[in-house]
Amino acid sequence: MTVLPIGKNIFEVGAVHADRELFDSLMPTPHGTTYNAYLVVGSEKTALIDAVDPLKTRVLLKNLSEAGVERIDYLITLHTEQDHSGSNDAVLKRYPMAQVVGNKTVRDMLETHLHFDASRVKVVEEGDQIDLGDKKLTFLMIPFAHWPDNTMVWVEEDRILFSSDLFGSHYSTDKAFATSSAEQRTAAKAYYAEIMMPFRGQIAKHTARTRALNPRLIAPAHGPVWYDPDMILSRYERWTGDGVKKLVTLPYISMHDSTRTMVERLAVKLSAQGLSIICRDLGSTPQSLSLETGHFIMDLVDAAAVILATPTVLGGPHPNMAYAALVANAVRPKTRFMALVGSYGWATQVEKVMAGLTSNLKAERLNTVLAKGLPSDADIEQLDALALDLSSRIKALPNLID
Ligand code: FEO
Repeated sequence: MTVLPIGKNIFEVGAVHADRELFDSLMPTPHGTTYNAYLVVGSEKTALIDAVDPLKTRVLLKNLSEAGVERIDYLITLHTEQDHSGSNDAVLKRYPMAQVVGNKTVRDMLETHLHFDASRVKVVEEGDQIDLGDKKLTFLMIPFAHWPDNTMVWVEEDRILFSSDLFGSHYSTDKAFATSSAEQRTAAKAYYAEIMMPFRGQIAKHTARTRALNPRLIAPAHGPVWYDPDMILSRYERWTGDGVKKLVTLPYISMHDSTRTMVERLAVKLSAQGLSIICRDLGSTPQSLSLETGHFIMDLVDAAAVILATPTVLGGPHPNMAYAALVANAVRPKTRFMALVGSYGWATQVEKVMAGLTSNLKAERLNTVLAKGLPSDADIEQLDALALDLSSRIKALPNLID
């Protein structure tokens, strides 16, 4: 991505990171990502909204040169995380006249996290405006989307909303505008799951506020610009709402096929009840843990239930399951029901350990089924009963969605 116009005298000047495979050393990014920075050129003043990850500083500076930018009056930081502020020093070195602008939390975090001189930051509050001449930038606070400092900028004259991380996607493309491809929508859902879902209540409010603004374009800090805002807003409204799908996600690990046999039995019985089932093998290849945990977390955006399936290893859950459970616990999904199944050799503390790992999950706990070795007929009966119980509970939910 080089310099791409997205509106009258408004340009995307950030950087593509197409070969980034992992974000935060945690989230798989199979489509890479972008660090968006937006240049807003008014009749009197020029503002740069966000910088880029320090890995891509040279790209940002090159793009600013290509755009013929000789003066930046305001360097606006919507969010302190380094993928948006890590190039601030380089921008200020080239454009020393620029006034850094951010809210109070941005100012404080720039100081504590990046050791930036806080006295250089002009602090803005909710509703404050910066006048660029024929365009005014209005600051709107969106705390916990996903840090306490996140801010949006609204340009009424162009009806463009710069939304910081909110509505972003880890999806790199040379085209600035989001297509309606399933791939791109999936990237947006994965991004929501991993980054925004833990703050679902706040995100719902920010989404409603954005809807009320009726923007012509939403320009997030990652991924393409949404030229049809309804495409992303309607999805956020669904994801942050209370509705769930008739979907059961089954992350599992199996070492000697005992747990796999139990998972297969559950899948058959649950699908016979008309439910959708997704089984996620967390251990089939060295990459499975990261990739399948990412997919599992995305399932949790709207799955009605989760069944965690693990063998016992050294008394507790298989470490891969412990990892997946820890991540699920952190993102606080709206999943309604949860169960644990698995196998063990001679003794197990798996139920106790898993309860501790998933203590943040509000889902109602159903019966645990643990088999000693390969599941016996009695174990299979318990699995069938679990499947029947779960399916009847899901079908009775008042707010099921397609
Ligand atoms: Fe894209 Fe929270 O940084």
